Amino acid sequence: MPNFFAAAPKGLAEVLEKELHQMGISQTQKIASGVFFDSSWEGCYKVNLCSRIASRVMKPVLDFPAYTGEDIYFNIKKHDFTKYIDPKATLRIEASVKESKIHDQRFLAMKVKDAIVDQFRDKFGIRPDVDNANPDLRVIVRGHKNEYHVAIDTSGDPLFMRGYRREAGEAPLKENLAAGLLALTEWDGKSPIVDPMCGSGTFLIEAAMKAMNIAPGSMRKSFGFMKLNNFEKEKWEALLDETVAQEKEELDFQFFGYDVDRQVLQYAKDNARRAGVDQVISFKKETVATIEPPVEKGMVITNPPYAIRIGDEDNVRDVYRDLSFTLKHRFKGWTAWLLSGNKDLIADLKLKSTRKFFVYNGAIECRLLKYEMF
Ligand SMILES: C[S@@+](CC[C@H](N)C(=O)[O-])C[C@H]1O[C@@H](n2cnc3c(N)ncnc32)[C@H](O)[C@@H]1O
Repeated sequence: MPNFFAAAPKGLAEVLEKELHQMGISQTQKIASGVFFDSSWEGCYKVNLCSRIASRVMKPVLDFPAYTGEDIYFNIKKHDFTKYIDPKATLRIEASVKESKIHDQRFLAMKVKDAIVDQFRDKFGIRPDVDNANPDLRVIVRGHKNEYHVAIDTSGDPLFMRGYRREAGEAPLKENLAAGLLALTEWDGKSPIVDPMCGSGTFLIEAAMKAMNIAPGSMRKSFGFMKLNNFEKEKWEALLDETVAQEKEELDFQFFGYDVDRQVLQYAKDNARRAGVDQVISFKKETVATIEPPVEKGMVITNPPYAIRIGDEDNVRDVYRDLSFTLKHRFKGWTAWLLSGNKDLIADLKLKSTRKFFVYNGAIECRLLKYEMF
């Protein structure tokens, strides 16, 4: 049984592990950056297709200590890379290294590449070319404190690239981060959600896809595993058919998105249509100061501007005050979740949070906070 590793955005390994369990993958081991899991290659296809939270799925192949380029070359040669692709195919090495004797990642990548292409040359007399844009085989090498981990990528483009988002406003959330945050809220998948500052609609589209059982990878044309020699096309197609057959046609509740920016709302509508969920999300141009609950009860989740990335602090401060007023006075009985990377602005809400998670939106440390509106 091959072992795999699903990488998660920081702070979301636990919800990713739960998600894998729900998919029927029981042999898991969580670390801060993701979850190791035991499965067949079919299980790997399934995680690539169905995980809403994973950033990428890899197959770890080697772990070793190394101090010199020769150590790297010697250890890489211990694994047979010629089984993954034909010698006429292409490859890319993604190398990074921290706090180690070898500190130049280009040197590291070169040593790994040399060891791999020499395996092909010895066996076939020819070697794969390097293609950094669209490789057939992507080898990921991470070095930390002279310990190296080597993995074969099975995803290709990162999994947040669902294929539905072509355009977005400023500071959109990555799709898998939005899905992971929704998982942290423990939303039941069966009740309305309002995003009063929805931007390109990522929270609502991800929530609607989950409610309608639409697999996040079902719109993608390709995954890294499809280019490997052991790809079992029939098994993949059967899995895709079975997954798509489980989609729901309709829901008995709705999602609601508001934003002041007309252009960004158009992007949100286009994205929702491409994701196949436009019939369950209503988008409306409105300021957070004036919105009213569109239904009696539900959950609010939003990612207001942080000031670091959009606008200046004074304008944004007013937006937080308006948000706080709207929640307190008009959303009584609702649960609200806020993602913000700005502690001062959160304090300005003058609301008491009942739960707090630390997560990262790109490089920005953020808090996801829960408020019960009484
Ligand atoms: C950080 S972005 C949200 C990004 C969104 N989560 C996404 O994934 O695309 C914040 C959004 O708040 C909107 N906004 C700013 N001030 C607002 C206000 N007073 N009322 C409603 N929306 C506002 C902006 O137009 C922007 O789209």
